[in-house]
Amino acid sequence: MTKFSELKGVLFDLDGVICDTARLHAQAWSAIAKKVGTTWTPQLQASLAGIDRMHSLEKIIQAGDGPRQYSEAEKQALATEKNTQYLALVADLKPTDILPGIRVFLDELKHHNYQIALASSSKNAPLVLKHLGLADFFTEVVDPSTLTHGKPNGEIYAKAAALLNLDPAQCMGIEDAAAGVAAINDAGAVSIGIGDDQLLSQANVVLPSTAELTLATIQAGMAGDLRG
Ligand code: G6P
Ligand code: MG
Repeated sequence: MTKFSELKGVLFDLDGVICDTARLHAQAWSAIAKKVGTTWTPQLQASLAGIDRMHSLEKIIQAGDGPRQYSEAEKQALATEKNTQYLALVADLKPTDILPGIRVFLDELKHHNYQIALASSSKNAPLVLKHLGLADFFTEVVDPSTLTHGKPNGEIYAKAAALLNLDPAQCMGIEDAAAGVAAINDAGAVSIGIGDDQLLSQANVVLPSTAELTLATIQAGMAGDLRG
């Protein structure tokens, strides 16, 4: 694994790392699940983290009991309905909704001349950053509509590193979802998981929450890493 001192770029996931928008996605998706006759469970919710819009819808339909076939037009309508509801929830986001420690961590990264990019699967990510007052930190944002493969494929993290003119191995990626950690690893960057150690067991370093996200804890985590 790359040494901490060789890292020059930090690639951020958005939902569940910078802001608790995972909760808002879940709120909007659960209404769609009800509509297609799928029981909403914590397992289903967890399986959608990091997964793009149409694949999320597909998973929700498939999780139903004897799912019926939906035409492409019907699926588009369901996805649009979800997004309309999600946008209504996003409209209320404010800088105080930034997760603990993130603002200070971004300042720390700037201070130490790390380059920063966003690697979110969400087409709404620029809007969310604007509401949070963080758009100025993220001048480099991967456009998810340019991707051939979603997470857990590493394409999004490879593109994020390329936006910074860095090799993925010179970057760390920060993720709250198992599919996201898999994507960071697939790209060859150092993976920092935020959340449950079991769920994120593939990450090079796992921190319990964003409040622990500092260069010092990452450096310490990498030094003690046995999986790399
Ligand atoms: C992120 C979230 C997913 C969401 C996806 C697409 O990866 O973790 O829950 O489905 O983005 O978001 P969008 O805003 O484009 O529908
Ligand atoms: Mg996430």
